[in-house]
Amino acid sequence: MPPILRTEKLSKSFLLAGQPRLILDGLSFEMDSEAFVSVVGSSGCGKSTWLELLAGITHPDSGEIYYRGEKITGKTGLLGYMPQDDLLFPWLSVVENVLLPVRVRDSDIKTAREKVHKLLPVFGLEEHAAHLPYQLSGGLRQRAAFLRTVMTDTQLLLLDEPFASLDAITRLQLQNWLKDITTELKLSIIFVTHDIDEALNLSDEIQVMRGKPGRFAGAFKLGERGKLNEPERAALKRQILELVADGMTAGDAR
Ligand SMILES: Nc1ncnc2c1ncn2[C@@H]1O[C@H](COP(=O)(O)OP(=O)(O)O)[C@@H](O)[C@H]1O
Ligand SMILES: [Mg+2]
Repeated sequence: MPPILRTEKLSKSFLLAGQPRLILDGLSFEMDSEAFVSVVGSSGCGKSTWLELLAGITHPDSGEIYYRGEKITGKTGLLGYMPQDDLLFPWLSVVENVLLPVRVRDSDIKTAREKVHKLLPVFGLEEHAAHLPYQLSGGLRQRAAFLRTVMTDTQLLLLDEPFASLDAITRLQLQNWLKDITTELKLSIIFVTHDIDEALNLSDEIQVMRGKPGRFAGAFKLGERGKLNEPERAALKRQILELVADGMTAGDAR
């Protein structure tokens, strides 16, 4: 079986003050179906830009992206993408927000509605179907945004720091919930975070991105998801921190 996702030497630059600045330098990556891969790295190293390339929102300068062996470089709508600042539309109910990708695709809304109603309890949202976003807690809003991403009907989801704005307890609860639900729904996940503990809680594999331009500096396989004992976990955390920090130059701290 081909890997569910593979990227080959993806590079991307942005114009800064009229000059191209290289942001991502030749990123190659691959992951298996149903894996949970986290990408950790310090702020500004290019994590969100990389996800935008995968989602087809921006185009790489060079390099290719393959989904299940097929070239998808620059194509949108094939992977489920939840951006860093995902916002629910304040004037739409939870159900209507969740149905948006289906409306955009112009697919069968009746079947989608049935699917949403089956999934609402799985997402702990059954009592909130008719609520507006402002009536939900932060954790519930993130669940609704995640359900909307699931409704894009793809097996591979790209999540950009989805829990960054939540309090510590809600965050832990949602991490556990995400772990269970991705297994239950057989999803493959790329999870971007700057929080190494969060990555250790969730992942089968952790990729470290670092530097300017950003590159993958190393990968850590964790074995069965979240089954590390404390000393293993502490040792891994130290190694990952060292790798992330090694890529920091004096310029990054400014
Ligand atoms: N649209 C853009 N135009 C110009 N520069 C950008 C753009 N998007 C991101 N950048 C720059 O690219 C670098 C990486 O940003 P980003 O991918 O958001 O990093 P991260 O998600 O790891 O914090 C930053 O220096 C940022 O300022
Ligand atoms: Mg980001």
